Amino acid sequence: GDLLEELLPSDPHATLSSLRTSELLENLGEMTKYYFQQGGKMLRPTIALLMASACNSATQRTIEHPVVGSRSHAAVCQNQYKIGMIAEMIHTASLVHDDVIDEATARRGNASVNAVWGNKMSVLVGDYILARATQVLCSIGRPYVISTMARIIQDLVVGEFLQTTTAPKDEGMDRRIEEYIKKTYHKTASLFANSCKSAAILTDENDKKLHSLAFEYGRNLGIAFQLVDDTLDFVATSDELGKPVAADLKLGLATGPVIFASVEYPELREMIAGKFSGAGEAEKAREIVLNSNGLKRTRELIDRYSHDAARLIGQLPNRSEASEKLIEIALAQAERKY
Ligand code: FPP
Ligand code: MG
Ligand code: MG
Repeated sequence: GDLLEELLPSDPHATLSSLRTSELLENLGEMTKYYFQQGGKMLRPTIALLMASACNSATQRTIEHPVVGSRSHAAVCQNQYKIGMIAEMIHTASLVHDDVIDEATARRGNASVNAVWGNKMSVLVGDYILARATQVLCSIGRPYVISTMARIIQDLVVGEFLQTTTAPKDEGMDRRIEEYIKKTYHKTASLFANSCKSAAILTDENDKKLHSLAFEYGRNLGIAFQLVDDTLDFVATSDELGKPVAADLKLGLATGPVIFASVEYPELREMIAGKFSGAGEAEKAREIVLNSNGLKRTRELIDRYSHDAARLIGQLPNRSEASEKLIEIALAQAERKY
């Protein structure tokens, strides 16, 4: 109407091209694709699709128009496939923003997005990926799935906030570990848990038991996965990881290995409270952790979470190729090297 005429330039196309928008959008496209083109493990979509297939098999649901697999209950429907895509998109958007927050220099063996294009562009690129993920999510057209997946974004932000808090020196070990696991759930496991739950909702929206089993598998696997990541930061090489190692302490972050090590070495408590900011403290703390039982105790926790994940899948009726693979992936976490 009249209002639009007032608001829009008389020739929007000429105006846009004078802003060289197409060239700008080409750059935006290039930046957006940057992390996707570098591969990554694709673990989140893999888990979401396997969970979709396992849930379809468990309930003997036949998919009429499968996009993955043949026409059987092992197949995955288009909306479940979209959950895999959205999970990877949210993950990638969060990595782009994370690299800005962490002032990262490298990811996946290459310069990080912020190192190439700077912080301002990286914030926009992360937002853009998130916007595109939201569109795919809405195209599923199921409010319960939309709110379940949106919860991931909320949890990721809360996780980043929780990570900036540090335990006071006098806090007990149980409480420290509890807080660490809570942070880990928000930062990493929620993405696995809620993607798995969404896949299960798309199998059968009314099967609450199935939703909860899928969610709990993702939660336990996700926590085990992050505990492995936190361990690798101490023991892996930068070649193996494609990013600098020993990064967490330098960022002031106390993860499982340090928290456990502080039982044997109380001097770590002071350093944790001060975020390892004193001269040479990050290096000193690292030495202490490597000489302590911290890594061993973290590995025990990894075993507990990965076995719990595997046990949950064992409760699904009608074992399938997908459910076997989900068990295998959970139990393989303890041996992961990158
Ligand atoms: C990597 O952790 C980062 C995350 C798991 C989540 C980051 C989340 C945000 C920045 C909140 C904003 C979220 C969205 C969806 C835009 P890390 O720094 O421990 O691991 P790294 O070594 O791979 O960098
Ligand atoms: Mg981070
Ligand atoms: Mg980071």
